[in-house]
This record gives sequence, C-alpha cells and structure tokens, in this order.
Amino acid sequence: MIESIESLKQEITAFTIQTEEDLEEFRLQFLSRNGKVQDMFKMMGSVPNDQKAKVGKAMNEVKTIAQNRFDEAKENLSEKKSVSFGAADDISLPVLPSYTGSLHPLTSALKEMKQIFLRLGFNIADGPELEDDFHNFTALNFPPDHPARDMQDTFFVRRSEERPQDNLVMRTHTSPVQIRLMKVKEPPIRSIMPGRVYRNEAVTAKSYFQFNQVEGLYVDERVTLGELIETLVMFAKLMYGSDVKYRVRPSFFPFTEPSMEMDIWWDNENGGQWLEILGAGMVDPNVFDAVDVDSEKYTGFAFGMGVDRIALLRYGIDDIRTLYENDIRVLRQFT
Ligand code: PHE
Repeated sequence: MIESIESLKQEITAFTIQTEEDLEEFRLQFLSRNGKVQDMFKMMGSVPNDQKAKVGKAMNEVKTIAQNRFDEAKENLSEKKSVSFGAADDISLPVLPSYTGSLHPLTSALKEMKQIFLRLGFNIADGPELEDDFHNFTALNFPPDHPARDMQDTFFVRRSEERPQDNLVMRTHTSPVQIRLMKVKEPPIRSIMPGRVYRNEAVTAKSYFQFNQVEGLYVDERVTLGELIETLVMFAKLMYGSDVKYRVRPSFFPFTEPSMEMDIWWDNENGGQWLEILGAGMVDPNVFDAVDVDSEKYTGFAFGMGVDRIALLRYGIDDIRTLYENDIRVLRQFT
C-alpha cells in the first residue's frame, strides 16, 4: 500500500507541465473526480485499522503535492502569457486612447469642393506650378506694366529685362491652366483646376506666401453671366448650407469682363465680417484670341476660389498659418 502511494507521488513529480494542454492532462490524470488521487483514497477501505492514520497521512501528503504542482504550473503559464506585453505592466490600468489619423482641413475642404463641381457637371484638370510669362500673364491679358507682374507679388525663377517673355515664375494663380486647357481642347469645356499658387506676400493671419485655388472654366455657345452667378450661388449653398449669407460685387481682372467677387458672411464674436472667397467673370475676348478660340462663336465664364479661405470659413479657423504649421494638437481636432 505504502509503495503504491510512493509510486503515485513519483509519477506526480515526474510529470512535465509546459503547456496549457499538459496542465489539463495533469488535472485529468491526477486531480479530477476519476483521477488517480481519488482512486487512491478509495483504497482506504481495505487498509487495516491500525494503519489507517499513517496511510491517510501519506495519501493527504500526495494530494497536497499534486494540488501544489497544479497551482504552481498554472501560475507559471499565466505569467508567460503576460510577458509578451511586459511583465511589469499593470493590465488592469485603463487603456490610453489611441489616435487615428485624419484628413487635413485643406484636403477635406478641397474634397467637398470637388464633389460639388463634379455634381454640377465639371471635370477636373491641372497644370504645372512653374509657369512661363505667356501662360501666367500675357495670354491672360495682363498689360506689360501690370503691377501683378512686379517683384512684389511674383516669385521669379528666371527673370530677364531684355526678354520678359522668357521669364519663369511660380504661378501666382491657377488661371494659366485655363490657357493650357483652351489650347488643347475645343469647346465645350467645363472644368475645375485645383492647385497650389505662390505670392511674394508678408505672412500674416490672413495671407501666406503659398496657398491653394480652385479655378473654374465653362466655355460653350451662349454661356451667360446669369449662369455664372447661379453656379456661384449654388456652390455657396452646397458648401455652407442654404441659409448662407453671401454677396456678389463688381470687381476687376484683366482676363474677365465684366468681373466680380463673392463674399461670404462670417459670424464671429466680434460681430462678424464679409470674407472674400473668389474672383470671377466672363472670359475676356482678348483671352479667347490668345488661344485661338472663336470669340464670335463662344462665350465663357471663369472663377478662381481660395481654398484656404473657404476651409477657414468652413471649419471656423481664424489664422491661415494654422493650415501650414501641422501642429498635431490642431490636426487632432479634425478626427
Ligand atoms: N485668378 C484670379 C486671382 O487669383 C481669380 C479669378 C479667376 C478671377 C478667374 C476671375 C476669373 O485672384
């Protein structure tokens, strides 16, 4: 009897427990209701009375050994599991919020603008940021001495006094893409042209040396000023809601006649103010002449919108520099 208890004890200590499966196997073999430890206690009945105390003691000892082995192995296994995320980590601590990325407010605004114009039947075109004098100025009917050609506004990449037609500039607006489009495509044309533009301006809350525009061009037979205004009003309502407060006022651009600008009312703590968001007008016949489009047959309208202004208004940001500093605390507000 004592021998068989002894051999069970050895069996228990020799059993290797390395995995969850081993642990379960151990439990089934030794500790379960039909396991060897219970079987051992069943033999108690055949033990002579004078030995019962001694045998009982030995059996209890084996049971304790088995139970301890089981508890120890279980503990070890669960420790191993937690090692993968750091044994010292307190897994009961609350989880830190993890930030997902977000679209930049400029990207979101541009996306909305594109969607609106795609809906209105426009397609999307683009052109280079480095332009020559012809596309950026001359074809757009800028007189040779126009102030916009001046050093004060324009970043020149190449500048020649004798041959100004060889000048290369960082485009000051997206209107040169109109020229490129009309040179390669017969009307009807109905396109928007998003892109980055550059001006040699002081950096302030309201202006930056680089910003974004969306140019628009619609050329066909009998395009009217009424359609232009209708399109701009439609845009304002789709972008800012049907109760948006807007106004259209006369303006001047060399490449459109008549010309206008559109303002949107910006409600703020200081009582609010009008903010200009775009310039527009009917394509000047001189522009059609420069690109060989028949100005007797075709008319057209064009507009140029400031994406930055539109984004500031849309998201209630009051400083354009915010859009270019990429402060993570600001960007996180747009998730
Ligand atoms: N290019 C003009 C600007 O940058 C905007 C404009 C575009 C005006 C098209 C009229 C027509 O200010």
